[in-house]
Amino acid sequence: MQTALRTSLPESELASRAKFAPQARVVREERQEERQSERQAQTAGLPLSIRGLRKSFGDNEVLRGIDLQIPAGQFVAIVGKSGCGKSTLLRLIAGLEKIDAGSIGFVQDVQPEDIRVMFQEPRLLPWARVLSNVEVGLGRDRSSGDAHARAEKALAEVGLTDKRDQWPSVLSGGQKQRVALGRALVSRPRVLAFDEPLGALDALTRISMQRLLERVWRDQGFTAILVTHDVSEAVALADRVLVIDEGRIAHDVTVNAARPRERGSAELASLEGSILSHLLSADDRT
Ligand SMILES: Nc1ncnc2c1ncn2[C@@H]1O[C@H](COP(=O)(O)OP(=O)(O)O)[C@@H](O)[C@H]1O
Ligand SMILES: [Mg+2]
Repeated sequence: MQTALRTSLPESELASRAKFAPQARVVREERQEERQSERQAQTAGLPLSIRGLRKSFGDNEVLRGIDLQIPAGQFVAIVGKSGCGKSTLLRLIAGLEKIDAGSIGFVQDVQPEDIRVMFQEPRLLPWARVLSNVEVGLGRDRSSGDAHARAEKALAEVGLTDKRDQWPSVLSGGQKQRVALGRALVSRPRVLAFDEPLGALDALTRISMQRLLERVWRDQGFTAILVTHDVSEAVALADRVLVIDEGRIAHDVTVNAARPRERGSAELASLEGSILSHLLSADDRT
């Protein structure tokens, strides 16, 4: 009797644990998700919808009907031969150039600070120290009380806190690009467009910058649009690679490889090979 009672008690307790433990786990997971979505809501990427986009310069029809939906927070790489219109597309998205026809929609209202572009040249102000160069990215918020603190945080994100009082001229090429990235990040953009930002860097600096780009993108959740001529860079970083040819998106390739990605893996190498063959066949026609 006693034995039965003793065993029945723990059994009932086990039963109730079995009933409640999974629920407790669900609640915990929901809280984690809540915290994660709170974090992402502050900096969440914007979705983009491009329809029938056309752009010509004189009689040079550069973009001849671009249709593209980019979900919030996606990392998109754009590749294509030189002169195919990659920079033009990026400039149109960033509002730096006027569209001829079609539309680029952001679903929500966008502020100028929401979209930033980083170029191949760091474009730093030579007469301003590193921290001031980052503050420039705050635009009209530059005079706000927390401008210094925000710039310092952005500088820390790109690993350059110890260079805050230096002049740009004493920095290496990679460090200058990190300042440019800090300046782009300081306003917490919701879309960050990169126009071959690593094109002028040596191979090793380039790989460490690629890792930095991936890390800040994962931390901040902005929508990333990267123009690059380096297909291995495109497949290493992007969720999706677009090949532009003859003014249109000729291929739209999904990169499913898990992150962090192993550079040089068979999976990435085979994707890279197939994208390169698209590019080469486009090149053969010219
Ligand atoms: N402001 C401009 N005025 C005239 N032609 C331009 C201008 N910008 C770009 N183009 C032309 O548009 C085409 C696409 O240029 P671009 O977008 O810079 O190509 P990509 O970045 O793919 O190399 C090229 O033929 C280029 O000469
Ligand atoms: Mg270009």
